[in-house]
Amino acid sequence: MDKSTEPRRSNRFTLLAPPGDTLDRLEHTRRLDPPIRGLAKAVRARIRPGKLRDLLHGVPIGHPLHPALATFTLGSLISTSVLDLTSANPRAARRLLAAGLVTALPTAMAGVTDWSTLHREQQRVGFVHGLANLTALCLYSGSLFLRVTGRSGRAMAFAGLGAAGLAGYLGGHLAYRQAAGANHAESVTHLVPTGWHDLCSLQSLPHGRPVIRRLGYIDLFVLRLKETVHVLADGCSHLAGPLHQGRLAIEGGNPCVICPWHGSVFRLSDGSVVHGPATSPQPCLRTRLREDGIVQVCV
Ligand code: FES
Repeated sequence: MDKSTEPRRSNRFTLLAPPGDTLDRLEHTRRLDPPIRGLAKAVRARIRPGKLRDLLHGVPIGHPLHPALATFTLGSLISTSVLDLTSANPRAARRLLAAGLVTALPTAMAGVTDWSTLHREQQRVGFVHGLANLTALCLYSGSLFLRVTGRSGRAMAFAGLGAAGLAGYLGGHLAYRQAAGANHAESVTHLVPTGWHDLCSLQSLPHGRPVIRRLGYIDLFVLRLKETVHVLADGCSHLAGPLHQGRLAIEGGNPCVICPWHGSVFRLSDGSVVHGPATSPQPCLRTRLREDGIVQVCV
């Protein structure tokens, strides 16, 4: 394309632009990258792979933990504002506000842990989402301080609600437009007719080395271990990393594959998540061997 006619992406933010355009620009602005790089590195160094990190990602519940915790935090803070509006029960409003601030800590920890393993475009939006939440928490904390010292604090809480609303909007963009936290392997089994399909000959598969094979529209991770063939969807459920490029490992006595992008570990026998950041299991296809040596998979 002629450079003079190539559309140019502006990094300028303007209040008159539609919100979607502004967020598109935010995704591509590089100005935020130095602090993002530093913070993501610090988070990964502080919250090392292990039980706490898996818990914060939400591996035990099979979903990201952050949105579940955010429900408690935001619910408490919004309820505070409803009570403030009606001047119904200042004591209850104070308690709800305190509860929201207490649950904000684990909510933020879960969010920042997920954020540290996202793509850069997602991290840029997530960074501003975090700043908006931090602003909201400062305002709500100030409101609580004013309340316990005998003053109103309601105006500060309403300002906090505005910042939390902006953070929620950015969080929605992250989750629904940028698919952070979504299962990136969900569509796999819908792209091929159900039933048994020929995949490849057993002889064409190397021993102990994963390869990629295509079945219709889907890419499959295929690993032959002696006469057993393990087949998983190739695109990682976290952010679609190529599993056939990952390392093999033994976890709890079971053969597993480690995603090359962010280190999620999946059990080969059933695709279950052993370690995050992935929280959704990897689609695992049953296999059988035809008499003529053709490996078949069941979708
Ligand atoms: S793409 Fe992130 S762990 Fe696989």
